[in-house]
Amino acid sequence: MNEKTHLLVLDDEKNYLLVLEALLTDAGYTVTALNDPETGLAFLEESEVDVIVTDMKMPKITGREVLEQVKKNWPHIPVLIMTAFGSIESAVEVMKYGAFDYITKPFSNDELLLSVHNAAELSRMHRQYRVLRENLEERYGMHQIIGKSRAIRETLSMVDRAAPSRSTVLISGESGTGKELVARAIHFSSPRNKGPFVSVNCMALNPGVLESELFGHEKGSFTGAVAMRRGRFEQAGGGTLFLDEIGELTPELQVKLLRVLQERRFERVGGTEEVEVDIRIVAATNKNLQEEVEKGNFREDLFYRLNVVHIALPPLRERREDIPLLVAHFVDKLARENGVTPKTFTPEALDYMTGYEWPGNIRQLQNVVERCLVLVSGDTIRVDDLPPELRDEESQLKSAVDLLPVQLDLADTLERIEAALIRRALVRADFVQVKAAELLAISKSLLQYKLKKYNITGH
Ligand SMILES: Nc1ncnc2c1ncn2[C@@H]1O[C@H](COP(=O)(O)OP(=O)(O)OP(=O)(O)O)[C@@H](O)[C@H]1O
Ligand SMILES: [Mg+2]
Repeated sequence: MNEKTHLLVLDDEKNYLLVLEALLTDAGYTVTALNDPETGLAFLEESEVDVIVTDMKMPKITGREVLEQVKKNWPHIPVLIMTAFGSIESAVEVMKYGAFDYITKPFSNDELLLSVHNAAELSRMHRQYRVLRENLEERYGMHQIIGKSRAIRETLSMVDRAAPSRSTVLISGESGTGKELVARAIHFSSPRNKGPFVSVNCMALNPGVLESELFGHEKGSFTGAVAMRRGRFEQAGGGTLFLDEIGELTPELQVKLLRVLQERRFERVGGTEEVEVDIRIVAATNKNLQEEVEKGNFREDLFYRLNVVHIALPPLRERREDIPLLVAHFVDKLARENGVTPKTFTPEALDYMTGYEWPGNIRQLQNVVERCLVLVSGDTIRVDDLPPELRDEESQLKSAVDLLPVQLDLADTLERIEAALIRRALVRADFVQVKAAELLAISKSLLQYKLKKYNITGH
């Protein structure tokens, strides 16, 4: 399956070129051999070349000029230069210009093959790196944020507007609402996306450890600090630092963070030298930070520094219209990841999904879909296949109640609901009153009384 490495070989001496071509083809490479460097450069415009092997001394365009062009237009292609014996100075020069390697003619076959092999390796690594980067963007880009509700559309437009700048972003929302997903989308849609995305959970570590985790430490600053260590702030240089659960920072660390945000510099633990950093900070919290400020748990000045752009993610139960889309998205994604065939939810099962409260938000929804995909045999997921908590009457009732306005006439509303439930039971029971009474767990006479009361007639 390994695709062959494609070499472009340039040399003005035709016979020599033929020899090189044969040698490299025998060694398993795909070779394009050209005796005119100009044609070679034109060839690069339209073909994917992994490594260039070029002679130095050629009549119209020299190897050095080829190198310059390649460095300018295709900087990822390693260039291997062949120089004639005695022209050692220009060899040093081409290395300065960024040639991958040079070999002096006459060289042995092994010498050439070794150098080409190394260049091919480098090229392969470049290619892998590009694929990995593209995968990351694909995995964490904005299009991974699913939803059509107004809240989600607003979130997407905020991400879009915030990404190009270096402004600090504060993301708030209950657990599982997608805070980390949004943080990554901001980084990967920003101009800093070639830099690292470094994430720190402020709750996971005790305060002392967290300090050295964030700021690093100098050698000998505390027992066990055997060597200098760079902290997350430094690791995130050129990229984005994601501070998760920011509401958990101790007052001391809040002061330190404030300083970094103000001055973009800090000292490592136990150090005196200032370290400057070029980072963007995205912070997340499932607390209401404004309230924490009012309660005196979170510094007001730090809050304002963090709250430059605020993205508030609503709980899933407040944007139920996204649920069918999310279900379809997770069915598709998780079926692929688990190597199982996708399944469909019956409309009734989907109703239950849409009606549920989702205290664990999207993460919980994702887990339920995954569980159904893996455990249910057959290609349909029915109500009975759903986990018990989703079928819980209390939560069904609560979500039905959520649909009603908060301000209402209680007695009147209850009567209307009662009448509606009785009508539904009658329809279900094909208007057989005994059966309807059974469905409602009341006596036939009570049912008849209520039918009269609400003026409900037979068919
Ligand atoms: N709008 C969305 N579209 C698709 N997937 C989503 C969406 N929001 C969240 N998810 C997925 O739900 C899961 C939980 O999201 P995430 O980890 O970002 O939540 P969180 O708010 O950081 O949660 P916690 O507070 O528990 O850390 C992830 O697998 C994420 O990919
Ligand atoms: Mg999270």
